Amino acid sequence: MANLLVLGTQWGDEGKGKIVDFLAPAFEIVARYQGGHNAGHTVYLQGKKIVLHLIPSGILHPDKVCVIGNGLVFSPRAFFKEIDDLKSLGVDVSPERLLVSRAAQVIMPYHPLLEKISESTRGEKMIGTTCRGIGPCYEDKAARWGIRVGDLLEPEILKEKIEDSLRLKNRILEAFGYPALSAAEIFEEYRILGERLAPYVADVSAFLDSQIANGKWVLFEGAQGALLDLDHGTYPYVTSSSSTAGGVCTGLGLSPKKVDGVLGITKAYTTRVGSGPFPTELKDENGAIIARRGDEFGATTGRPRRCGWFDAVAVRYACRINGVDLIALTKPDVLEGLVEIKACYAYRYRGEVLKDFPSDAWMLERVEPLYRSFPVWRGSIHRAHDFSEMPSGFLDYLNWLEDNLETEVGLISTGVERADIVYRREQFEKILGERAKILG
Ligand code: GDP
Ligand code: IMO
Ligand code: MG
Repeated sequence: MANLLVLGTQWGDEGKGKIVDFLAPAFEIVARYQGGHNAGHTVYLQGKKIVLHLIPSGILHPDKVCVIGNGLVFSPRAFFKEIDDLKSLGVDVSPERLLVSRAAQVIMPYHPLLEKISESTRGEKMIGTTCRGIGPCYEDKAARWGIRVGDLLEPEILKEKIEDSLRLKNRILEAFGYPALSAAEIFEEYRILGERLAPYVADVSAFLDSQIANGKWVLFEGAQGALLDLDHGTYPYVTSSSSTAGGVCTGLGLSPKKVDGVLGITKAYTTRVGSGPFPTELKDENGAIIARRGDEFGATTGRPRRCGWFDAVAVRYACRINGVDLIALTKPDVLEGLVEIKACYAYRYRGEVLKDFPSDAWMLERVEPLYRSFPVWRGSIHRAHDFSEMPSGFLDYLNWLEDNLETEVGLISTGVERADIVYRREQFEKILGERAKILG
């Protein structure tokens, strides 16, 4: 048995979609456990770019079953849009291979409106969210106002819950100058969405448990990244879910004993979308080169991503809190356009050297990163797939990262396509055993 958790070790967009797509052949099931359609997971298939938001990236492999857990905030509108887009690409999205938890929270039409109010009230201190209604939907879950997928299937219950909810939401909306929403209209739309959704709805926890008992392997696909985790990220500049390892258990109804390994997805530099502290951010020509070469624009909102040097303090922290066994390093090819590469190994704060990631965002805002410099390697690693082809200059950078993170790198992604990857099978054998051979 080897169920593997794949998660981001930075502020998201590390290349999780590409790595999940590469690993999927070794598993039977791919499951999302948190977040929602704020995620944008890019996969290239024979030159065609596909971005998954809510549906696990494993859907592009026809023989995999995909699961959306209770830990997600689920937009039925976004789900059916994605289903229609995938169908038009010839992808099989039938309910036999796509399950949605009855207990997932539903994003309702008032959630994005409440988010707008919240963000504009913050003014300059706005989080810079994706405006998909993610935060307000999780707020409703915690406040016990939430409507769950199971409720969409029972019109009487749904009607009552929408009416109850709007009694409060409409007062807030009106106070901020928005027109009140009509319970009848929302009910009608969501009742119909519920009917369409019914064949996909399942008890995901029981399903996964029985599949695992029957020897099936699950790949858990994290969204966002460790530093965007609600508790362990750079609060309040975070998302509203548990994107770290603990989210798997609560977000799928699974025991921690069912997670056999953790693969951390780590970009060879750092990016961040939205506001919040970012010690190694580059506001100079180097940042612009990375953004251009790395095509660093949000896969969900199209916003330019802020770019900076690799931050080993941050990633070491992510490795520790998630128990990362192995790292998949992505996008090192992007660094080839620079004349010098830097990586941060510690911070200085009020004259003291910090090697641990501070938990207060205000402290992180005030640290000075301490850098080690590397020359750019001779020769290109772009689209390489053989470890022996790696230039020695790149290996110096890689060895330094492994030493600093105290974690081995088992995969090196070298381009956007499935085949642009260096796979170090001996390292995966420790987690996947014989099945490591399936991947190369
Ligand atoms: P995710 O949210 O973690 O799945 O990452 P995104 O899909 O939002 O962003 C990663 C971007 O980098 C996508 O456009 C990928 O196609 C691209 N990408 C992934 N791996 C590599 C790589 O090794 N090299 C290059 N140049 N691009 C990559
Ligand atoms: P993937 O899965 C990068 C960021 C937003 C914002 C903060 C809160 O593609 O890596 P939210 O809408 O979640 O309340 O926004 O989190 N954010 C992401 N940044 N990648 C993501 O997902 C993100 N999902 C949310 O930009 O700063
Ligand atoms: Mg993304």
